[in-house]
Amino acid sequence: MQPTLHTPRLTLEPFRQSDLEDVFAYAKDPAVAEMVTWPAHESVQDSQAFLDWIRQSTSDTKGNLFYVWAMRLNETKKTIGSMSFSMPSPETGQFDYALARTHWKTGLTTEAAKCVFDWAFNTIPELKKFQAMCIEQNHGSRRVMEKVGLSLKEVREKSMLVKGNHVDIAFYSFEK
Ligand SMILES: CC(C)(COP(=O)(O)OP(=O)(O)OC[C@H]1O[C@@H](n2cnc3c(N)ncnc32)[C@H](O)[C@@H]1OP(=O)(O)O)[C@@H](O)C(=O)NCCC(=O)NCCS
Repeated sequence: MQPTLHTPRLTLEPFRQSDLEDVFAYAKDPAVAEMVTWPAHESVQDSQAFLDWIRQSTSDTKGNLFYVWAMRLNETKKTIGSMSFSMPSPETGQFDYALARTHWKTGLTTEAAKCVFDWAFNTIPELKKFQAMCIEQNHGSRRVMEKVGLSLKEVREKSMLVKGNHVDIAFYSFEK
């Protein structure tokens, strides 16, 4: 079952239906959506589709876990972002994240990503590798990966079609 995780400033827990307005508040921001695969939410229905997708995609299958946590600020109880964990293979973990612009550059994504990284290695004995990827120009995301302990493996030019453009992708990983 998807665990609830705690960091000094955040609670990472499964999304609830009551998070809908909080999700829309950050996901409608074009700056948040600029370097991710999804378009900025145009209406609360897009945020509802995101919550529905999480509900349908969550997986407790050994070797193929898929969890998306709401990043909830302890101080205000507001959901200010999302952090996911997936398993491209039974020995490999991966995270992905997005945070409300109002909280950028305060160390929160690093705090949450480190927590998920530690949780994964502490609870999945088969895990040997952790990886993450982002658009090459996403300097904030690259720094988060580096600060958690991943290193740059390669930049693959024009390797992903994102919103109609072929973009360069930076691949990071950590091996136990
Ligand atoms: C990328 C993102 C997750 C970074 O989150 P964050 O909470 O601001 O990151 P942190 O505060 O933990 O910062 C980690 C490091 O990145 C740096 N950083 C953050 N944003 C940056 C930016 N836009 N440009 C350069 N460095 C940046 C911070 O200064 C910090 O480095 P430092 O400790 O050496 O100073 C956030 O900007 C975001 O949600 N962006 C939109 C969605 C997105 O791109 N998600 C990732 C998809 S792969």
